[in-house]
Amino acid sequence: MILIETIEKLKEVLFRIKSNGKTIGLIPTMGALHEGHISLIKKAKGENQVVVVSIFVNPLQFNNPDDLEKYPRDLEKDLLLIEGITDIVFAPSEKEVFPIVPEETYNFGELDKIMEGASRPGHFNGVATIVKRLFDHVQPDKAYFGEKDFQQLAIIRELVKQCKMDTTIVSCPVVRESNGLAMSSRNQLLSFAKRNIAAKIFNIINKAKESAAPNVKKINDLVISEIKKLEPVTLDYFAVVNDATLKPVASLDDAKGVVACVAYTIGDVRLIDMIRFK
Ligand code: PAF
Repeated sequence: MILIETIEKLKEVLFRIKSNGKTIGLIPTMGALHEGHISLIKKAKGENQVVVVSIFVNPLQFNNPDDLEKYPRDLEKDLLLIEGITDIVFAPSEKEVFPIVPEETYNFGELDKIMEGASRPGHFNGVATIVKRLFDHVQPDKAYFGEKDFQQLAIIRELVKQCKMDTTIVSCPVVRESNGLAMSSRNQLLSFAKRNIAAKIFNIINKAKESAAPNVKKINDLVISEIKKLEPVTLDYFAVVNDATLKPVASLDDAKGVVACVAYTIGDVRLIDMIRFK
């Protein structure tokens, strides 16, 4: 495994790899790697000859400076975790990626006006800006993203379409801790007790679906009232949406491809999750 910090070196190494006709799989990350990332890397390893993991905490996608400040960072630990399953780690500085203030603006229509987009203005423009730059530098055959960030996945698919990029987007299922909590870099910021409280939300959503399906309004009401009882949790949104358009669905009966997306803060840590209903 080699660690590369500059775009120049990355391009030099990738040029040699591509000249040998090898395929490249990219896993973009912000570090603080966990089993969810490992599952993406392993999938990429099985489908590509060379695996590149990028580690870069992208300031553009944080609309809250405190959130950016406390985002967990530990490059050495990350490197130890992925040694043996990764070929190249690209971990550039902020200056390397954004030598001048980036000014790209993307238009994703309704896709980024709802859920995360509504709660975190500018977030998806920041995500799109870094993902486009990483794709331009690495030119991967395939890039791997987790389904937990379900709206991000939809935005990235749209980005690839709009920019006519030649990269296949591969999505991978949410990986959960044994109590049901979706793996996230931000889980590191939670105490053991808070992790267990957060895990209850996954169970609340599953139970609400079991008892109230196909009526989505009833599922919503149950989830909202149960989450209200959890201390110190504040629900941001819960939405049952079509998995392609992200538009809300009213009944599970006549809908195809339905997911539930949720965002909440526990203490001062913001978490999201996605549960497939259909
Ligand atoms: O999902 C993430 O970790 C980030 O949003 C990504 C895709 C690496 C862009 O910074």
